[in-house]
Amino acid sequence: MIRRPPGPKPRFLIGNLPLAGGDPLSVFLKWAQEFGDIFYYRAVWLRVYFLNHPDLIESVLVRNPANFQKDRVIRNSRWFFGEGLLTSEGDFWLRQRRLSQPAFHRERVASYAAIMTGYADEMLATWQDGEVRDIHAEMMNLTLRIVVRTLFNVESEQTVHVSSALNALMRNASGARMLIPPIGRYLPTPSMIEVRRGVRHLEETVYGIIERRRADERDAGDLLSMLIQVRDEDGSRMSDKQLRDEVLTFLLAGHETNAIALSWTWHLLAQHPEAEGKLHAEVDRVLAGRAPAFSDIQALPYTEAVIKESMRLYPPAWSLARTVRSDFEIRGYRIPAGANLVMSQWIMHRDPRYFDQPEKFVPERWLNGGSAKLPRFAYFPFGGGPRQCIGAAFAQMEAAMVVATIAQQFRLRAVPDHPVIPIPSFTLRPKHGIRMTIERRQVSSNINQQQQAMAESARQ
Ligand code: HEM
Repeated sequence: MIRRPPGPKPRFLIGNLPLAGGDPLSVFLKWAQEFGDIFYYRAVWLRVYFLNHPDLIESVLVRNPANFQKDRVIRNSRWFFGEGLLTSEGDFWLRQRRLSQPAFHRERVASYAAIMTGYADEMLATWQDGEVRDIHAEMMNLTLRIVVRTLFNVESEQTVHVSSALNALMRNASGARMLIPPIGRYLPTPSMIEVRRGVRHLEETVYGIIERRRADERDAGDLLSMLIQVRDEDGSRMSDKQLRDEVLTFLLAGHETNAIALSWTWHLLAQHPEAEGKLHAEVDRVLAGRAPAFSDIQALPYTEAVIKESMRLYPPAWSLARTVRSDFEIRGYRIPAGANLVMSQWIMHRDPRYFDQPEKFVPERWLNGGSAKLPRFAYFPFGGGPRQCIGAAFAQMEAAMVVATIAQQFRLRAVPDHPVIPIPSFTLRPKHGIRMTIERRQVSSNINQQQQAMAESARQ
């Protein structure tokens, strides 16, 4: 007999559809507080089970991952991502993961630090003291340029080409449109026509780069070179279509999430001047005006703690979801095949069992081994188990490099009355962007002169 976990009572007509409502994050959190480690609700025909305990999450992601496939939303995005790492399953996924892994090894990722700080400096050279900018848009632009360059190592003209193709697509393909079921995608509406045109353009650009790179077999130091060169045990390599799928996955997965992590970090720092002051003190002391390098990360523990704490409160991936393949039992409840499981970072990262004063921004909680006491799935911004984010090291380094570079030179102030609202779609975007006033920092004249010179040379 199916014994269902507790949950909200079904409501008339559309059942419980929190994602269609005004404030789904608060609704989910309230349900977790009310019903505990596991709750159930029905959204029209969909049966949804939320797992809100580290052990339950581990049992799905680590102990028995084969019984769960990516959820419907991810499956629906295959029209765009194809069989890339995010969307593929089974043996095919495993092979691709093995082949892609070397491209994300520590040494390879470390070699991208200078690209990250270089692009951050270029962006800062365009910032004027006192002006107001949408920091989310700035971070999207920056992380896109970084991922395009690290993937393709193309000259800046081509970086612009790929970026503008992707931007055009993103303008029209909001998260929701990328995920609409197959039939909707072929509708002759102006926006869907634009989306299809955007995908075609992006594909042509990417295939063009792949073709040129295949013709010239040398390692250009980028991710694409690695993906082209790797061979499976049987000697086979990735086809152009596989490369296309992986590359488009990295382009999208690799820039939006990081832009979001950085945007929320600036938002939180603006609300917490004390933490901001400690960050400034650390970057000024350790870097003394020079650009950060990969080897500096160890000496920047507060910077890292700020980023970790920001991803706790505003996890760019706010939940993971899976569809159950065969019936299984958890905590004495039978979960049927076809049900949807949701494991939410938004909920777990706010659980008072693991985080003292969970709503407070306290970077210090991560210092001096503070995270060592946590169960593995109390904090999981990059997921976990075999499907853990392949770009986690890349993302963490990028965030440290960019935060340190910007914090050395500028402080960002909240614009009064600008509403900053997290929207839980594919990622946790700020609904109206994050408008902030840019203030050039007054640091000691010695450091200041070096920074001005760096900005000057980036402008030239
Ligand atoms: C702050 C930045 C990032 C966050 C928060 C993030 C988060 C995640 C999460 C939670 C997953 C697991 C999804 C699941 O289990 O359903 C994931 C998977 C993935 N991420 Fe990231 N990610 C970030 C940056 C990146 C970057 C920089 C790249 C690549 C350049 C990347 C590429 C991927 C790929 C390819 C997967 C699928 C891996 C697989 O299933 O084998 N991500 N990411």
